[in-house]
Amino acid sequence: MSMIDVKVAAVEQVTPLVKHFTFVRQDGLAFPAFSGGSHVVVSMNVGGRVFRNPYSLMGSPADTSAYHISVRKQEHSRGGSLFMHESIEVGSSLQITYPVNLFALAKKAHKHILIAGGIGITPFMSQLFDLHRLNANFELHYAYRSPEHGAFADQLKASYGSQLRCYTDSQGGRIDLLALLSKQPLGTHVYVCGPNPMVVAVIETAKNLGWPDNTIHSEQFLSPGVGEPFKIHLKKSEIEVHVPADMSMLEAIELAGVEADYLCRGGVCGRCEVDVLESDGALLHHDHFLTDAEKASGKKIMPCVSRARCQKLVLDL
Ligand code: FES
Repeated sequence: MSMIDVKVAAVEQVTPLVKHFTFVRQDGLAFPAFSGGSHVVVSMNVGGRVFRNPYSLMGSPADTSAYHISVRKQEHSRGGSLFMHESIEVGSSLQITYPVNLFALAKKAHKHILIAGGIGITPFMSQLFDLHRLNANFELHYAYRSPEHGAFADQLKASYGSQLRCYTDSQGGRIDLLALLSKQPLGTHVYVCGPNPMVVAVIETAKNLGWPDNTIHSEQFLSPGVGEPFKIHLKKSEIEVHVPADMSMLEAIELAGVEADYLCRGGVCGRCEVDVLESDGALLHHDHFLTDAEKASGKKIMPCVSRARCQKLVLDL
């Protein structure tokens, strides 16, 4: 996968847990154009181990002189977010992928309802530039746990005023999804990014109210997590790969020198899908991409987030 060499031009502590990073290109050129909702994958070398984490681009898509991301320090970080918080400073060098948009605004929507929870605000930051520029009809509903954790809330209030509604959990603020989604005009699209219960609640509420599937948009990249170690055999490459407890299958495959496709590294896009040729145990599917029937068939797996509990697992790679 081709990468862009970047230098960190600015770092800002936004909340006790969130840092904002500004990247410029090492070669001094402009970055590729992107649309609101796009993400890049940041590649980090942490003591010889490479972490590749997806982060939403937050700046204005009209400005390609710099890219902006924000990183929440994860309580159970495997290393990536901790590294960004503790080791990356102004002048640090990193590599990033070209931007990809898996959470694009629907161009034909008559109205857009954006629902963000915590760090889930990040993909909306660039979408808001697009919506504002297009003079689109939109509302942003932003929930966070306490005032000091409302990243960018003041900036959003100053820019979008009456189109923004904030909900602070510690002050009893809650989004009444049923009330919000039942009163929208035909042609409205809803977008949600945040913790899993919020994403599930928005999708279920919208579906129960009869919103068509193509008007419900969500982004929720999963973390690879940890699990029991296991072994895989890569048929085409003719090698055996050990997958340690704290490494994803995809990371172990890359570490073994085998190139594998990916876009999101979070179980959403489907790009890393691999055929399972043989297995003698359970495939532990964690992705949001395969259907239940595909998962039950045992013939495919998404190595960016899924694991296995078996003695023998042969992949078509
Ligand atoms: S890379 Fe997107 S599902 Fe695995």
